[in-house]
Amino acid sequence: MSFLDSLFAKKEKSVIGVDIGSSSLKVVQLRKEHGKAVLETYGELALGPYGGSEVGQATNLSAEQITTTLKDLLREAKVTTASAGVSIPFARSLLTLVTLPYRKDPSEQKTVIELEARKYIPLPITEVQLDWFIVPRSEQAAFAAGDTKSGSAGPQTVDVLLVAVHNDELALLQSVVTGAGLSTSFYEIEIFSTIRAVVDDPVRPVMVLDVGAASTKTYVIERGVVALSHAISTGSQDITRAISVSGNLSIARAEVLKKEQGISGADTLGGPELVFSRIFAEARRVLVQYETAHAKSITSIVLTGGGGVTKELGAYAKNIFSIDVRVADPFSKTEAPAFMRPILEEIGPEFAVAVGLALRKLDEI
Ligand SMILES: Nc1ncnc2c1ncn2[C@@H]1O[C@H](COP(=O)(O)OP(=O)(O)OP(=O)(O)O)[C@@H](O)[C@H]1O
Ligand SMILES: [Mg+2]
Repeated sequence: MSFLDSLFAKKEKSVIGVDIGSSSLKVVQLRKEHGKAVLETYGELALGPYGGSEVGQATNLSAEQITTTLKDLLREAKVTTASAGVSIPFARSLLTLVTLPYRKDPSEQKTVIELEARKYIPLPITEVQLDWFIVPRSEQAAFAAGDTKSGSAGPQTVDVLLVAVHNDELALLQSVVTGAGLSTSFYEIEIFSTIRAVVDDPVRPVMVLDVGAASTKTYVIERGVVALSHAISTGSQDITRAISVSGNLSIARAEVLKKEQGISGADTLGGPELVFSRIFAEARRVLVQYETAHAKSITSIVLTGGGGVTKELGAYAKNIFSIDVRVADPFSKTEAPAFMRPILEEIGPEFAVAVGLALRKLDEI
């Protein structure tokens, strides 16, 4: 190999985002080309069949079972890189927004935050990985909070988002990742990945509803930061179950009908609309709670997750919330052949987390 060969040797430029959801694994592979994120491949594999349950239902599998599924998925999707970013389920993490004393010196600020964090994390600090973000405050917010004295003194408090993940969860993910032959430089709580993939205007408050299999994650993003997060313990699997019970059908058949018929599935099937009205009622309470506490309005809602693919859900949600509702289109942040667009738009919501992870990983290159 000549000197020039090594100088121009093709650098590994492809990366993958791996979303370990409760009902399925998703992977998205991107490559950087002229500063753009090019979609190379993507795929999904249901976990249910690997753990004695059905497609679309949430599972609780061992690390070994998840590893086997992931290996199959990487092969089926023809993934060609080991360079990965991996999600941490929201359900396994703890997010708390707290107001702490402000310190001008960054290292002093860090000490204050890490000491104070102990009071808010209901677990021994040795059992969790702790991370935190300082919420950037607008001048106006600082002023309204009475922090600015005649323009000279700085703020006296700082809002900090504390993030804790249990060591056991990270150990499980690590064993899956190494078991599947991947190498990863970060694990990210799924909601941060989703934000990167689906929220365009992070300045004004936006509510994201990630309708998964087991639960619906609700969060409010403001100034690019998670201002509020809440899990609703109803998800799309509950619709399948409702259809199965009311129509006396197998879970597998009910799952197919759910996807075919969408939100307004025949009344005799029961289910879709009833379950979504319950999910949205709880989401609305979260929305109102935020608006009241912060005296500002949420300008739009983004629907994501596999449940976000439900036919006619956007129109139904718009009617219920009476504000702008969008169905997430994460693949719009990637370059793909035009003929692929319709399908990518349709399945996009399911892949939001994986796209967000891959986009972050791509930034490392
Ligand atoms: N076209 C569709 N119409 C309606 N529901 C769908 C459609 N496609 C997928 N779903 C449902 O979405 C759910 C899976 O969503 P998703 O893949 O986001 O969940 P997950 O990430 O595995 O779960 P969680 O986020 O709760 O851990 C399943 O219950 C599935 O039946
Ligand atoms: Mg999910």
